Amino acid sequence: ARTAVVIPAAGRGVRLGPGAPKALRALNGTPMLIHAVRAMAASRAVSLVVVVAPPDGAPEVKSMLDAHALPERTDFLVVPGGETRQESVRLGLDALPPDFDIVLVHDAARPLVPVDTVDAVIEAVRDGAPAVVPALPLADTVKEVEPAQTPGASEPVVATPQRARLRAVQTPQGFDRATLVRAHETVTDDVTDDASMIEQLGLGVVVVPGHEEAFKVTRPLDLVLAEAVLARRRL
Ligand code: CTP
Ligand code: MG
Repeated sequence: ARTAVVIPAAGRGVRLGPGAPKALRALNGTPMLIHAVRAMAASRAVSLVVVVAPPDGAPEVKSMLDAHALPERTDFLVVPGGETRQESVRLGLDALPPDFDIVLVHDAARPLVPVDTVDAVIEAVRDGAPAVVPALPLADTVKEVEPAQTPGASEPVVATPQRARLRAVQTPQGFDRATLVRAHETVTDDVTDDASMIEQLGLGVVVVPGHEEAFKVTRPLDLVLAEAVLARRRL
């Protein structure tokens, strides 16, 4: 069973504020995308990384990858992305050569995920799960609200799910390749994670332990945290 990773990196990073596309911004001097690709290539099981670049940024991303050494065993491809994350993932899947039957989908915006988490996801797919997501228990209690029509207005609470039963999901998410391709052909709703498409097919999705360092760089404060983690690792 050969394993490939699709890395959606085509987002603008609106919540991070003005600047280059998020995946191309530097963390301690190295583009976030390069950290993310290295995190995937750190797994001995991963032999191909498909990077989904900003729509007009594929040549720039290709030369960026050429300039940063990857392990001998790891090939890479670069394809242009789409308007939504879901579309970008589908464009990455379309570029996958035939001889891979496990595919991981990993956000470029999670540059610091440890290799043990990557390997645990791959292991669970090899053990037969059609979809595997790393996730962590929540620190905050979560409330469902009736969203306000005007920003900043107060919002009525609808429900409070039991915190102990909730998990915050991360990436890489791992899939049986044929199942993920079928999900992309069948599910038309907008989704914010890949595994929820598998749930919509009625198939079982399992959670394995995630890692605090697999957090998503979303807002400016996350850049401070990411650079502090890298400094602790001396990178
Ligand atoms: N992504 C993508 N194609 C899109 C939108 C998002 O490949 N059209 C990718 C991002 O590059 C990122 C991952 O999906 O690696 C997770 O998305 P998110 O953290 O929301 O990143 P952005 O969409 O770039 O950020 P924002 O929502 O703040 O604009
Ligand atoms: Mg987004």
